[in-house]
Amino acid sequence: MPRLKKMLFTACILISLNSCKEKKDSSKSITQEIESATYTETYRPQFHFSPPRYWMNDPNGMVYHKGIYHLFYQFYPEDIKWGPMHWGHAISKDLMHWEHKPIALYPDKNGYIFSGSVVLDIGNTSGLGSIEDPPLVAIFTYHDPEGEKSGEKDFQTQGIAYSLDNGDTWTPYKENPVIENVGVKDFRDPKVFWDDHNQAWVMSLVAGDHLQLWGSNNLKSWTKLSEFGKKRGAHGGVWECPDLFKLKVEGTDEEKWVLLISINPGAPNGGSGTQYFVGDFDGERFTTDQTAVKWIDWGTDNYAGVTYHTLPQNYYGDTYDNNPGQDRIFIGWMSNWAYAQETPTKMWRSAMTIPRKLSLYKEDDTYILYSYPVASFDSLRVETTAKEFQIVGNGSERIASENLNQAEIRFTTASKDFALTFMNDKGEETVLTMNSDQRLFLLDRIVSGVTDFDESFANKIQQMPITNLPEDAYEVRILIDRSSIEVFINKGQYVMTAQLFPTKPYTSLEFENASAIPITIENLNINPLKRIW
Ligand code: FRU
Repeated sequence: MPRLKKMLFTACILISLNSCKEKKDSSKSITQEIESATYTETYRPQFHFSPPRYWMNDPNGMVYHKGIYHLFYQFYPEDIKWGPMHWGHAISKDLMHWEHKPIALYPDKNGYIFSGSVVLDIGNTSGLGSIEDPPLVAIFTYHDPEGEKSGEKDFQTQGIAYSLDNGDTWTPYKENPVIENVGVKDFRDPKVFWDDHNQAWVMSLVAGDHLQLWGSNNLKSWTKLSEFGKKRGAHGGVWECPDLFKLKVEGTDEEKWVLLISINPGAPNGGSGTQYFVGDFDGERFTTDQTAVKWIDWGTDNYAGVTYHTLPQNYYGDTYDNNPGQDRIFIGWMSNWAYAQETPTKMWRSAMTIPRKLSLYKEDDTYILYSYPVASFDSLRVETTAKEFQIVGNGSERIASENLNQAEIRFTTASKDFALTFMNDKGEETVLTMNSDQRLFLLDRIVSGVTDFDESFANKIQQMPITNLPEDAYEVRILIDRSSIEVFINKGQYVMTAQLFPTKPYTSLEFENASAIPITIENLNINPLKRIW
């Protein structure tokens, strides 16, 4: 990190930490701790967002305003385990390079600050800013730890806070909470959008085993509109972190509504995961005829993901841009509650997924949500020359590469029967397998490195059904960043994200042809990636 940036960053974190109510450390030792957050620590992601120190979980409040993408996140600034939740804050101009900002929201008399969203109130409907200077309004859950201890169910309520300086400082609304709890356990994670058709704010909120939709004209006073999902989708665990948004079906003029719901536990490969529903929204109700359970990502480590807030362009006119590119951009937390608090990092815990663009496709009368790295990711590539080779029936080809722990691996192939093994000289390996007989893609991290911190981390091979790949060549794109792997098959039709903790970087990659006929690997690019810090 350049010296000036590092000094600013240190000062900024110090301000945040110094204003924490319960300070454990002297400011001298805090300085030392911050100085030592070099972003070169073992397992520190080089091109993914991670907090400088301490515990992080869900992404929160994702909003673009005045040329800046904001990323807030669930943060406990005193330990690398979950604790009283704050909102940490970082900003970016390109969704790749991040600058850390002071903590945005602190626990207050209403409780800890759980997950939520931020909207740009461009019409100043809340009256918390002005038309000339529209407020950013954060809508989040208050979690009252005392209430939780009392055994009652009503300890989660919804509150708001606002910022008039593009997110630098936040003022909690004095009449919080804005939605009281009427005895519903797990009543949380408000995600708000502007419903242009009905000219009103709509909030999706979870209530244990279902979604509730609430409406408002001013972000302060809310009315319940409807419920969805008690008997729909996966219910292996509690529903969390909803997000409801409209997407155009690619190649058509049709528009559908997509509802993301994270559940924990109950994901297809264990622990936490994010399902989605595709349907319609009439301003009051979300409806769908979808019967299958669908997952945005089949890997174990993409949870609580939501998308950047956007306003319809006709709401703000041509003079203002709230959504450059008009893309629907998703970020998830790259971990899993099954073992998140035990992973083998020391200074900080966990990272976010690479930001992904979501697109909707219709395949055989069903809607499928694709997720694929946003275009600005390409700027991280150090270009190399593409290779092409054939592998004889049941043969293999091994490629040595020093950069495999901070790299993008891309190729196209028509084969549906191959294995790819990432290896180091300690005998540790991660194996990806495409199996046409079983119509499965497998991710095996059983001997990938350090796995013994939790029994559930590597006790089985992760599976993803592959039912609809094109007959001809398709792309496989893999991102590896020291302690994570993200696999995007056929431009994001099938996606798997997982954490890995090899004790030494992987330095060779073996392609194995699992069929008796020769296969071709085309356009193989192993691109080293620039670090973002
Ligand atoms: C999801 C979640 C949310 C909650 C937050 C608390 O990971 O459990 O439902 O708001 O984390 O940190």
